[in-house]
Amino acid sequence: MRRPLVAGNWKMNGSRAAIKALLDGIGQGIGSVTRAEVVVCAPYIYLPDVAAQLAGSPIAWGAQNLSTEASGAFTGEIAASMLLDFQCRYVIVGHSERRALYGESDAVVAKKFAVARAAGLVPILCVGETLDERERGVTEQVVARQLQAVIDLEGVAALADGVIAYEPVWAIGTGKTASPEQAQEVHAFIRRSLAAADAAVADKVQILYGGSMNAANAESLLAQADIDGGLIGGASLKAEDFLTICRAAN
Ligand code: PGA
Repeated sequence: MRRPLVAGNWKMNGSRAAIKALLDGIGQGIGSVTRAEVVVCAPYIYLPDVAAQLAGSPIAWGAQNLSTEASGAFTGEIAASMLLDFQCRYVIVGHSERRALYGESDAVVAKKFAVARAAGLVPILCVGETLDERERGVTEQVVARQLQAVIDLEGVAALADGVIAYEPVWAIGTGKTASPEQAQEVHAFIRRSLAAADAAVADKVQILYGGSMNAANAESLLAQADIDGGLIGGASLKAEDFLTICRAAN
């Protein structure tokens, strides 16, 4: 049985004060989240604060990106080892904003997955199609290609060390959620494709849905057989909404 996982992706939001208040709020309600694993992915610079505040709590934390390199002349980059210095457990790789706005290719994302995994971090690998790709009927090809880049580099078994997040780009930050059936269809496709290569990996890997998941729609999405949790943007910035989603994942 896969454990449900709810990860907040704060993106480039917040301040020291706002994050402290948000974590206070989540901390007060987390006792009612009995089964789901809860993670917050913070902007790099707030990771020391987050680590200090969450130490000893059931909430894990992580980053939203990492470098493909281990150290050296890479101005502005952050290495996996630095994330471990602040006890990060998770790191998001290949978020669609990084693919679209910062030109991260499938190959770069695969390298980030590999580097994170080698360091002992749990990579949350984001995949998903744009609206244009959905309308052209190539959703499955796009998702398969994004996954294949990681499989080519690391082998299919590596995916069992990570988490997959299916995030249709057209649903991110738009308020336009995929319907539970639309999401389940792609999640089932992902699991079926992995099963063809390795049934144990397909059975083990958590596949999260992301894209305008909120307190009102979480329950119906999370009720789907192949949706094991959520990657939450906007709704993770409000303690009550985030907790409602975490409870729905129970
Ligand atoms: P959203 O973002 O929940 O605000 O749509 C999800 C994500 O980008 O991970």
